[in-house]
Amino acid sequence: MPSRFCLAPLAGYTNWALRLTVRELGGLGLATSDLVNARALLGKSPKTRELIRTSPDDIPLAIQIYGSELPWVTDAAQYLVAQGYRHLDINMGCPVNKVVKTGGGSALMCDTTGKTVELVRAIVESVPVPVTVKMRLGWDEKNLSAPFFAREFEQVGAAAVIIHGRTRQQGFSGSVDRAGIRAVVEAVQKIPVVGNGDIITLADAERMLRETGCTAIAIGRGALLNPWIFRQLLAWENTGQPGDPPTYFERIDFLETHVRRLIELWGEYRGCTNFRKVGNWYAKVLKPGREIQKKLVMLDSWESLVGIVDTLRAKGPPAGWRAGDAPSIAVPSGPIDKW
Ligand SMILES: Cc1cc2nc3c(=O)[nH]c(=O)nc-3n(C[C@H](O)[C@H](O)[C@H](O)COP(=O)(O)O)c2cc1C
Repeated sequence: MPSRFCLAPLAGYTNWALRLTVRELGGLGLATSDLVNARALLGKSPKTRELIRTSPDDIPLAIQIYGSELPWVTDAAQYLVAQGYRHLDINMGCPVNKVVKTGGGSALMCDTTGKTVELVRAIVESVPVPVTVKMRLGWDEKNLSAPFFAREFEQVGAAAVIIHGRTRQQGFSGSVDRAGIRAVVEAVQKIPVVGNGDIITLADAERMLRETGCTAIAIGRGALLNPWIFRQLLAWENTGQPGDPPTYFERIDFLETHVRRLIELWGEYRGCTNFRKVGNWYAKVLKPGREIQKKLVMLDSWESLVGIVDTLRAKGPPAGWRAGDAPSIAVPSGPIDKW
């Protein structure tokens, strides 16, 4: 891996187009695909297959599968390896009902009687590539099963575990429990533990590494806000300094490349409509004024995008511009039983 700073999967966002555009900035270690349903993958669902689209320069990449039934998951694992993928990740963190009701995602963290561990063992033994597991701290605060599972998964051959420091019950609320991640680090003998959750700044990253003792970190929402964070972290690790922040013009180049690749991935219409959900994010960062903001969130063609970036470059940054804080990305909210 080029670094120990990983991109956490954000389904619908961290597709090939975004991954490659982030990789080009430097410093990114491992990236992971959207979660894919093992059964749907084997059923040759075209939509599912799209989720695993990649290219030879999009490495290292883990393909993340979810499911709870054998032999679907092992068959899916073997299918992926036969297609040339070189790293598999198992989702045990997803809290949404669509996934949990299949027995997959964070529901797997409820079964400490052996089935979940056997599932991981079966996957590890079915393929000759590294298999990792991404999980939460447990189902709820009374069932913090992550240390138990991490220890067991290590015994059956998992290559690493990635821990989002919240329970399923918490959803995305509250803040990350770094002591909970530390308990996982202490539970394993030698496999790497990747700490995840709420890393937005370099200081957050430093705190995650220091307080948990984790080997590596994964950044999701913070990387959408600042795709340069991996490069900055690597520079900081090597020199003590993160280097200059991206300029306004570099941000525009990033926007243009991102959209170009989304169109390459899905064609002009779908590429543009997929972009719309991050249109506001770019608008908050670039502060281009209302009219361009509207065009970004309603983007409908490459021609329109070219017009936007030409205008932004010609105008230059608004007076006193600095890439603002914090556009957040939508997470499910409300009662978790309804997710
Ligand atoms: C919109 C969205 C989609 C997500 N999709 C996935 C996914 O497909 N697989 C997964 O393991 N985690 C998924 N996650 C969880 C993230 O990978 C990560 O664990 C979580 O957002 C906390 O990290 P962060 O604070 O750096 O974003 C998703 C999170 C969000 C907000």
